[in-house]
Amino acid sequence: MSELAGKHIVLGLTGGIACYKSAELCRLLVKGGATVQVVMTDSAREFITATTMQALSGRPVYSSQWDAREPNNMPHINLSREADAILLAPASADFIARLVQGRSDELLSLLCLARPVDRVPLLIAPAMNREMWVHPATQRNLRQVAADGARVLGVGNGWQACGETGDGRMLEAAQLYEEVVAQFQPKLLAGQHVVVTAGPTFEALDPIRGITNHSSGKMGFAVARAAREAGAEVTLIAGPVHLPTPRGVRRIDLQSAREMLEATVSATAAATVFVATAAVADWRPATHSAQKIKKDGSGQPPVLHFVENEDILQTIAQGQRAQSGALFCVGFAAESENLVAHATAKRERKGIPLLVGNIGPLTFGQDDNSLLLVDQSGTRELPRASKLSLARQLVAEIAARLPTKG
Ligand SMILES: Cc1cc2nc3c(=O)[nH]c(=O)nc-3n(C[C@H](O)[C@H](O)[C@H](O)COP(=O)(O)O)c2cc1C
Repeated sequence: MSELAGKHIVLGLTGGIACYKSAELCRLLVKGGATVQVVMTDSAREFITATTMQALSGRPVYSSQWDAREPNNMPHINLSREADAILLAPASADFIARLVQGRSDELLSLLCLARPVDRVPLLIAPAMNREMWVHPATQRNLRQVAADGARVLGVGNGWQACGETGDGRMLEAAQLYEEVVAQFQPKLLAGQHVVVTAGPTFEALDPIRGITNHSSGKMGFAVARAAREAGAEVTLIAGPVHLPTPRGVRRIDLQSAREMLEATVSATAAATVFVATAAVADWRPATHSAQKIKKDGSGQPPVLHFVENEDILQTIAQGQRAQSGALFCVGFAAESENLVAHATAKRERKGIPLLVGNIGPLTFGQDDNSLLLVDQSGTRELPRASKLSLARQLVAEIAARLPTKG
């Protein structure tokens, strides 16, 4: 994992219990290839030691604007100029209030104020008690720092150190790491609304059993994450899978192909890109038994009858939005052989501009894959790589094919 190679992050800690999570965050950033300079307020040092943060970042921690280690004695200038991004995690209510006022009586607020706003993004991960979070002063301050150019990353919900439950927990280290990685991705899909289907469908026979397939949903979830990183608004329509929702993505969970069709028709009504990665069942049982189908002792297994499901991709691709060019449709084909021939034929049959072929048994459940892109000009292979890396390449391929606005 070297997604952050070459990136220099100033990780600012302010006074809150969530400082304990910042140790893990620092570790993740370093593991991701970034260099990390930790800056702590005096209050932050009450919660976690500078020794821990120095050991994890591999650099001495800064806390004072009077730090004479800097030859020019201006750590606020030097540290903010070196940074590719400043991440405040945790950001206390008090610190956010100070940012609003442009206060600068200690190093961390001083370097935030001194940062070149156009070049060095400021990411804020608030952490506080739920009452502090919902207080109008805090909400007003958050709106103001966002209006002043900072990115407020939101908070989690749940049990708090004070014993109360609600909004205000700092996001988990892995979620913040994901946000930092996203920050550096090119915003190729800014202004687009992308709908992605992912995972298998489940076609119930009775309340106990059903027919499904080996799709894990990993490719579709990676596409949703990559599209969001690229600046799109993303709706992810997922069959039954056990995967965490990518940050900032709206997720709709469902089971059957018919439910997926209905959700997709509705979601694509306002979308500009549709990526159909879901492995949708071609057929569903003709009847659904309200009770479990039991053995009757005759030794004769039940005879199952199937009916064909409506083709989701084809339905959307033949709809008014796709036909008018307002919705760009991308299909996926999971084959077991003759990928080029099957994928080429499928693209033509579905009438879509871009089809992505892959070999089912080599992708289902795997973290990596290889893809075959098929469009009107021919085929191109994206060699084996992580699904996230392939998803980012696919996003770039989609962006390059979208009609230019204006
Ligand atoms: C035990 C304890 C826990 C605290 N937790 C938080 C917190 O999670 N969020 C917050 O905004 N303030 C919290 N505070 C209050 C801040 O530490 C206080 O406002 C401090 O002045 C913040 O300083 P700083 O912004 O310079 O780091 C806590 C205080 C104490 C004593």
